[in-house]
Amino acid sequence: MRGLILSGGAGTRLRPITHTSAKQLVPIANKPILFYGIEDMARAGITEIGIVVGDTGDEIRAAVGDGSRFGVSVTYLTQDAPRGLAHCVLIARDFLGDEDFVMYLGDNMLEAGLSGFVANFEAERHGGGRLPLDGSGSEAGAVAQILLKEVDNPKAFGVAEVGADGEVVRLVEKPEVPPSNLALVGVYLFDPLIHDAVRAIEPSARGELEITDAIQWLIDQGHRVRHEVLQGWWIDTGKKDPLLECNRWVLDTIKTSLRGELDETSSVEGRVVIEEGARLVRSRVRGPAVIGAGTVLRDSYIGPYSSIAAGCEIVDSDIENSVVLEQSRISGIPRLADSLLGRNTEVFKSGLRPSATRLMLGDHSHVDLE
Ligand code: DAU
Repeated sequence: MRGLILSGGAGTRLRPITHTSAKQLVPIANKPILFYGIEDMARAGITEIGIVVGDTGDEIRAAVGDGSRFGVSVTYLTQDAPRGLAHCVLIARDFLGDEDFVMYLGDNMLEAGLSGFVANFEAERHGGGRLPLDGSGSEAGAVAQILLKEVDNPKAFGVAEVGADGEVVRLVEKPEVPPSNLALVGVYLFDPLIHDAVRAIEPSARGELEITDAIQWLIDQGHRVRHEVLQGWWIDTGKKDPLLECNRWVLDTIKTSLRGELDETSSVEGRVVIEEGARLVRSRVRGPAVIGAGTVLRDSYIGPYSSIAAGCEIVDSDIENSVVLEQSRISGIPRLADSLLGRNTEVFKSGLRPSATRLMLGDHSHVDLE
């Protein structure tokens, strides 16, 4: 079985955390979301992985490399424009060959591992994936497998309708009137028949080749699409609150590792990771929290559920339940909570008169003053 990870998409689709860089590289507990997906594939024994890249391909290549550090081999597949998830399958035809494959959306992250999902599909494949001629359709092996999750806002996702017999009968992409609250999670398993499906469908109203349409084509041709309902957590976007929530889930699993320097007046409590070259000066970190390589904390407090990325400088500030990306500087802020700060962000008190809040915010920024 091969792996296909979709990490393309144009800059305009990457808002709100990042406008110009890859949303798949936004970190959770200081590790890019995309890396969790690659590691999950490696654990499931999938070592040949194709990564579809677009505008942000250079950044993804620089971060992931040839895959050797994950114990996998990565082949990059360049997509000229974000023409849809099914278009990614179309351009990956040669890479995928005639093997079954798992398709994983690079901006999705889920608690459950891939291994069980893959094993269940393999077990169901024995019917051969085609309807038996005697009409006993339900005995046929599945040609695809999808993962569903009950959500409160199904309009934002692909949505599945499950029939009275418990089988998926219909899939619709971001419907105005959702047929159920079962959203498609961004992990799919396919047999090579999907290549016929992606060639057979037409672009949707938004001009994309939709994977939901391709899977619907399989169903309409009489093939069986198996589904599982996901237990455990899942996030799919770079939006602030789900991201902070996911950061909390992952931080709850970290083990203490202190590789940086603490002066004699600094302390850590609970499960804390201090990466190489990080320095604590008259500061306190209460876990679970991670402090990135080379980051300096001076006269500051970092509270539970915070991930401070590499190369940051935090001075005279208290931070809690927040994610701060690389090279940011926070100074003189007595209480920063529930926040997500992009790369190279600066938040500080200048002391200039007149006393005022002076902002320079990018498009779609969000400020909640105390
Ligand atoms: O996250 C689950 C949802 O993902 C599903 O419920 C939907 O059915 C599915 O269409 C998808 O919806 P999104 O609107 O979230 O897809 P997005 O445009 O964010 O793309 C998902 C990933 O695939 C992301 O890492 C970018 C990448 N991508 C996307 C497109 C359209 C590509 O590599 N190429 C593309 O052409």
